[in-house]
Amino acid sequence: MSRRGLVAGNWKMNGLIEAADALVSGILAGLAQRGGKVQCDVLVCPPFTAIQSVGKRIAGSAIKLGGQNMSEHTPGAHTGEITGQMLTNIGCSFVILGHSERRSMYGEDSQLVSRKMASAYRDGLTPIVCVGETLQERESGKTLDVIRGQVSAIFPNLPADTAKREQLVLAYEPVWAIGTGKTASPEQAQEVHAFIRGMLVEQLGGGVANKVRILYGGSVKPDNAKVIFSKPDVDGGLIGGAALKPEDFLGIIDGF
Ligand code: PGA
Repeated sequence: MSRRGLVAGNWKMNGLIEAADALVSGILAGLAQRGGKVQCDVLVCPPFTAIQSVGKRIAGSAIKLGGQNMSEHTPGAHTGEITGQMLTNIGCSFVILGHSERRSMYGEDSQLVSRKMASAYRDGLTPIVCVGETLQERESGKTLDVIRGQVSAIFPNLPADTAKREQLVLAYEPVWAIGTGKTASPEQAQEVHAFIRGMLVEQLGGGVANKVRILYGGSVKPDNAKVIFSKPDVDGGLIGGAALKPEDFLGIIDGF
């Protein structure tokens, strides 16, 4: 695979500072033990209030730092929101956008997610744009239509710059697999990943499309990571529950 793998931990709304520090310390210790054997990039996305403290712990290490959401707006009167610049200011280089929990609980649609992506690029962050179908959509045979709609919304707002386009990360997270213990089979994941890759080839050309990383998310665990990551268009994972225990997160990293 020409793309370097990425394992990203989405800590969601978990972790007071002490717990977040302990979690990342455990991950750091495990990575140090593995030394040069780690074959992928590693990213952690703590809740906003723990980012700075976690950032201090990982300073000088290979672990990268990201936010879980950001505003589409520039600084101003937006109570309760934060800008991408505020994330870069405390050491983030990535931001997760359009997670299904944001879409379903906070009314984020694909157009808003796309505008947030443009703002993330503007503010110097690498966006991780999440897409995925619900169980009902899968069962009624609409999976690829839903994915097509969600992915096509990003193209109008992608920067023209090739290097920035190649940086883009997408995450396929079937909603029915998130936090449920039900994982898409490696074949189901590969089918959707290949479909997304095909859209990228069509819209951006093969050169860019083959650099974009497409992560799988939804109940990834140490015991299923390796077989999922072995699929040709799966370039890593976006990990929720299993990112909250160092040994599980490290076990998933070992899937590469
Ligand atoms: P999960 O969550 O690994 O707990 O299923 C994945 C995600 O929501 O990003």
